[in-house]
Amino acid sequence: MNKNSLLYFIAAVAATGGLLFGFDTGVINVALPQLRAKFQPSPETEGFIVSAVLFGGMAGPFISGPLTDLLGRKKINIIASLVFVVGSILTAIAPTVTFLIIGRLFLGLAIGIVASTVPLYLAEIAPTDKRGKLVTFFQLAITLGILLSYVVGYFFADKEDGWRSMFWTGFIPAAVLMVGMFFVPESPRWLIGKGRDAEALEVLNRLRTPEQAILEVAQTRQIIEDEKHNKGDWRMLFSKRLRIPLFIGIGIFFIQQFSGINAIIYFSTDIFKNVFPDGSTAALATVGVGVINALTTFGAILILDKFGRKQILYTGLIGTAICLATVGLAFYMKDSLSPELQKIMLVGGVYVYIIFFAISLGPLGWLLISEIYPLKIRGFASSMGSFNHWLFDAGVAYSFPILAATSLGTNGGIFGIYMTVVLLGLLFAKYIVFETKGMSLEEIEKRYN
Ligand code: GLC
Repeated sequence: MNKNSLLYFIAAVAATGGLLFGFDTGVINVALPQLRAKFQPSPETEGFIVSAVLFGGMAGPFISGPLTDLLGRKKINIIASLVFVVGSILTAIAPTVTFLIIGRLFLGLAIGIVASTVPLYLAEIAPTDKRGKLVTFFQLAITLGILLSYVVGYFFADKEDGWRSMFWTGFIPAAVLMVGMFFVPESPRWLIGKGRDAEALEVLNRLRTPEQAILEVAQTRQIIEDEKHNKGDWRMLFSKRLRIPLFIGIGIFFIQQFSGINAIIYFSTDIFKNVFPDGSTAALATVGVGVINALTTFGAILILDKFGRKQILYTGLIGTAICLATVGLAFYMKDSLSPELQKIMLVGGVYVYIIFFAISLGPLGWLLISEIYPLKIRGFASSMGSFNHWLFDAGVAYSFPILAATSLGTNGGIFGIYMTVVLLGLLFAKYIVFETKGMSLEEIEKRYN
């Protein structure tokens, strides 16, 4: 295999973790109607079936945090894939709701682990000029997973016990991830961190020119030497020196999640029912969300290393704010709008919103947390970044149905709240985020010295 193909093979295997992330978070929406019919859960139990993955997602980083730096980026992903396999089987064969919830907790745990470790692994394996592109593979895989879940849901919606087939589908990428992970190399940067420079050089020789490989080992070794006085435990993340990267990890996910993305990813069918009262058109419009999300993320792969991260962030924030305003107005002005115009504003607003999100906030969240932290605590720090994601995600997922039932739902105020967050994000992009495009991980790390 030539160097480029090997790089993309590695990226594809690792990104399967993203596919599972997207699939297992998306599938519940399409499986829920059948689960309701089968188990007749109370509203609280239903909430738990949906959110078990998010709770698991919050717990995952506490496992990956210490273990990614200790065991390496490869072993931790093998562990995660095992948890995925177990979770997929448990959910697919679940005889009771409790069983199902336990299976969903397992899946969430695995998602929480891969979300902390895969972007990091991709960033560490990538040459500087392809880092944006490779980490965006992870986001692309998430969007493909969401799309897959919508499509599978559409197919099995009318089948007897179709939800079991939906969950079995998740088993396939889990098995691919588990087997594939045995064939990819360990992160060279982690190896150097453990004093295994010769092995790192071997890995890099398969991925870079011999000169680049030697240079990269030397630069990483230098960083390790410079950092010798730092203990490199979790406290380092909260030191004054790393305040900015700490804020970036919290801020980027706060804005990404409170931009309302998962209100759409999880509840778009309900949202679309306002203009398409017949459920199947609304469900089809949801498949449209999945298609646009995945296709635009393909585009993002092409632009992420061409334009600066900040530039992309500004564009995405302004674009999503305009779309959120349009969607909000489609609700606020519904009595004075023609049904056609309301439809265009609501569905069009959501679709264009997805386009702006998919080129900016979507990939940038995972990209920034994979590249801004120093090597010594990169595993722990990116796990904490990922924890923020799940915490804020759960916040939106919980509050959306509650708020949607109040006047904020009927007058579109909810979208006004998301728009305000996105506009505040412009300040965050200007004053907190710093440009990392074109900088090697070692150059980024030197900024903090
Ligand atoms: C990003 C977000 C995730 C969301 C997805 C939608 O990966 O982190 O929460 O579901 O984008 O494409």
